[in-house]
Amino acid sequence: MFGRLNHVGVATPSIAGAREHYARLFGAASVGEAFDLPDQSVKVCFVEAGNTQLELIEPLSDASPIAGFLARNPAGGQHHLCFEVADLDAAITDLTATGARVLGTPRLGAHGTRIVFLHPQSMGGVLVELMEAPDGGH
Ligand code: CO
Repeated sequence: MFGRLNHVGVATPSIAGAREHYARLFGAASVGEAFDLPDQSVKVCFVEAGNTQLELIEPLSDASPIAGFLARNPAGGQHHLCFEVADLDAAITDLTATGARVLGTPRLGAHGTRIVFLHPQSMGGVLVELMEAPDGGH
């Protein structure tokens, strides 16, 4: 059902600081520009990491779920894994049938594609994002 790992979400209290950190590690050309996702009250930035990407996430306000995460992890940390699926609606149907907890309904994510999150309780303690991608998993 799941396809490739699209990205690893990393919460950070400072995208500016994180961009400098990852520019040193992966090279400046690997670090994209930061942009706001006002719907989700976050600022994000993608880092090319060879076979996957890192999604750096900074909260834009206390209303962001990332703000709660940073309250528990002030230095930041790994927040979620994002896997590609070919058909998001079919994946939700299949996962729901197995008792997995799907959080809300699909919406547009940071890549401009449809995404949904799965509760960590259903995923071995890991917050999982599913992203619809034409050549994603089956
Ligand atoms: Co993500």
